[in-house]
Amino acid sequence: MPFPDLLLVVFYAALAALVVTAVALGALRLLRARSVAIQLGVVAAATVLATVSGILVISFLMLINDHDRSVVLTVVVSAGLVATAVSVLLGRRLVAANRVLVEAVRADRFRAPAAPLPAELAELSRELEAAYDRLAEAHRREQALEASRRELVAWVSHDLRTPLAGLRAMAEALEDGVVADGGTVRRYHGRIRVEVERLAEMVDDLFELSRIHAGALRLSRQRVGLADLVAEAVAGAEALARAKGVRISGDVRAGLPVHVDAGELGRALRNLVVNAIRHTPSDGAVEITGEVSGGEARVTVADACGGIPEADLPRVFDVAFRGEAARTPGGGAGLGLAIARGIVEAHAGEIGVANAGPGCRFEVRLPLPA
Ligand SMILES: Nc1ncnc2c1ncn2[C@@H]1O[C@H](COP(=O)(O)OP(=O)(O)OP(=O)(O)O)[C@@H](O)[C@H]1O
Ligand SMILES: [Mg+2]
Repeated sequence: MPFPDLLLVVFYAALAALVVTAVALGALRLLRARSVAIQLGVVAAATVLATVSGILVISFLMLINDHDRSVVLTVVVSAGLVATAVSVLLGRRLVAANRVLVEAVRADRFRAPAAPLPAELAELSRELEAAYDRLAEAHRREQALEASRRELVAWVSHDLRTPLAGLRAMAEALEDGVVADGGTVRRYHGRIRVEVERLAEMVDDLFELSRIHAGALRLSRQRVGLADLVAEAVAGAEALARAKGVRISGDVRAGLPVHVDAGELGRALRNLVVNAIRHTPSDGAVEITGEVSGGEARVTVADACGGIPEADLPRVFDVAFRGEAARTPGGGAGLGLAIARGIVEAHAGEIGVANAGPGCRFEVRLPLPA
């Protein structure tokens, strides 16, 4: 074919294709919310139409003869029909895969369908599964939080009210002059002071717990020697131990520095040590050890409490949980270990307990900075 004719063919073929493409794009825009099967059909039809219109224009300009035209048209139309059929088939497969996905989403618990899906839909389904798991996890956490909030409310209404009622009774008795002899008055004053101190501690513990539950515990971390932490925990509990006749000792191997909020972690350890002393009979021993190994710092508090009942072991860290012996008036509030756990977990650490030797051993594990 001479070069000018070739140019002409290219020009008219492109022109025809452009017109058909413009119409097809308009149609696709109108149909953009419809099924992919229909849109794929439009694409296949536009391809055939662009080719056929190019051939018609060229034969109209008499660049090819009638015979050639019918041969080419027959080939193009048959190929076009096959292409359209394949497109529609593909569209229907996509629609079916989509339906499988929609049904999986509608189910109570979304799981990626086992049926093979096109790559994009398979990716979407994996992402959906991950999103569903995150949602379920958030729901679980919210429910646990709600349960512990309810527990806390029940706790407040009981444990805070009982001592308040006692305080009121004593104050009224003093006010009305029901108790008049000097010894009883002094005893009442003493008990009022002790109760008020205990209530103040409880309110402080409650405040700490609510900050932990709200995720509002802001740690101001600094480098502290493990040995200093343990020494402080021992020193802080010496008076209490002496009053009860319990021996207390601290032992730190490799006192590497740890990166923690010394105030908060000190509070957690104090709760463990006070518990240990409280549950150890006089003449018993409480031992605090610290060591660094395997990329973590470990602090353990071992006592001679005689062991915690197996059934209680998993519950001692729950808010308001108290063992049988502690459920007496004036006993603990059941907040100490929940606070200790909250503080340790805020440090990305773990806390656990096991019965060992003459008593039990609480263990705090903290990751070391890399
Ligand atoms: N060292 C321990 N030895 C034996 N039992 C313990 C020990 N530490 C805790 N427990 C048990 O776990 C329960 C919960 O402890 P937790 O420190 O949370 O509360 P509490 O000591 O009763 O009250 P609070 O610490 O708020 O004053 C205790 O009542 C006790 O039954
Ligand atoms: Mg306690």
